[in-house]
Amino acid sequence: MNILAIESSCDDTSAAVFTAEGIKSNIIASQSIHLQFGGVVPELASRAHQKTISQTVEQALDEAGVSLEEIDSIAVTQGPGLLGSLLVGICFAKGLATSRNIPIIGVNHMDAHIYANFIDHEPEFPLVALTVSGGHTQLVYVKSPFEHEVIGKTRDDAAGEAFDKIGKILGLPYPAGPEIDKLSKDGDPAFHTFPQAMLHKGLDFSFSGLKTSALYYVRDQEEAFVKEHLNDICASVSFAIAEVLVKKLKKAVKQTGVKTILLAGGVSANSMLRDKTEKMAKEMGLKLYIPKISYCTDNAAMIAITGKMKADLGQYDDLDLKPFSSL
Ligand SMILES: Nc1ncnc2c1ncn2[C@@H]1O[C@H](COP(=O)(O)OP(=O)(O)OP(=O)(O)O)[C@@H](O)[C@H]1O
Ligand SMILES: [Mg+2]
Repeated sequence: MNILAIESSCDDTSAAVFTAEGIKSNIIASQSIHLQFGGVVPELASRAHQKTISQTVEQALDEAGVSLEEIDSIAVTQGPGLLGSLLVGICFAKGLATSRNIPIIGVNHMDAHIYANFIDHEPEFPLVALTVSGGHTQLVYVKSPFEHEVIGKTRDDAAGEAFDKIGKILGLPYPAGPEIDKLSKDGDPAFHTFPQAMLHKGLDFSFSGLKTSALYYVRDQEEAFVKEHLNDICASVSFAIAEVLVKKLKKAVKQTGVKTILLAGGVSANSMLRDKTEKMAKEMGLKLYIPKISYCTDNAAMIAITGKMKADLGQYDDLDLKPFSSL
């Protein structure tokens, strides 16, 4: 079965092709227009998707060496995401599907972050996924494919959002997560102790206090001091975020008794989080899966693999499929 996948939930227009040989292409057109605003502007995102979606899909088909006539179904992100952005992808998918008379498969973007781990591996169920992205921070108990229970989530900011907002306070470009990660490598994680919220309160997270703490810390220092210790401050921020995430993941493993864990979403590209989770998995004798970097942040390959898994279960949609921003 050949699947064309389309992802347009936020500010990346992406298309991928899945065939019997696996993922054959994964084109990601990132929108630079938002850089000047320090965050994603929804209306501009929809317009940029409209401009690039056609050529992104063409490029994905070309790179895969698969023609549109050879595509059997189209997987598309249904939500969560920005309504206007989702609409562009869904309308494009519906148009193509109608012209070819092939079915579409609506995919939950957060499921897809989890199933990105199934592109190159076959993780065993049941498992716990730590899904850490720009908009979400969740601990998900996955009993079997698509049988999900969210057992922990953030009460305010997501982990990626915390990285981005603290980066903004430090004068770093958006999205700041990758930059903070890079700077942290030459910094001292023990330089400053930032708060690790809700450590002893169940499986939920909170990152807004950390953001405020970083804001006050930077405000109360001389500019030259912050500049001189940027690496140390970044490492201390990364440490606080990664520590909470791993401690809660450990708690979730103990609570559910799973033997398999996954990292998913953009923040799973973070090196400190990866190292700490690897160490934890080793100590607890767990099987750990982490997507390769290009499958961590938004990409259509993860939509393709999730679409394939849904197709295997006969879960197709029809032209009534609607975008659902809070899916
Ligand atoms: N190496 C890294 N270290 C820390 N954060 C990172 C790293 N790489 C990416 N991120 C963060 O990941 C986030 C983007 O991830 P992703 O694309 O999965 O999120 P999103 O699609 O915006 O949100 P959602 O999936 O919840 O809708 C950004 O907040 C970014 O800063
Ligand atoms: Mg995402």
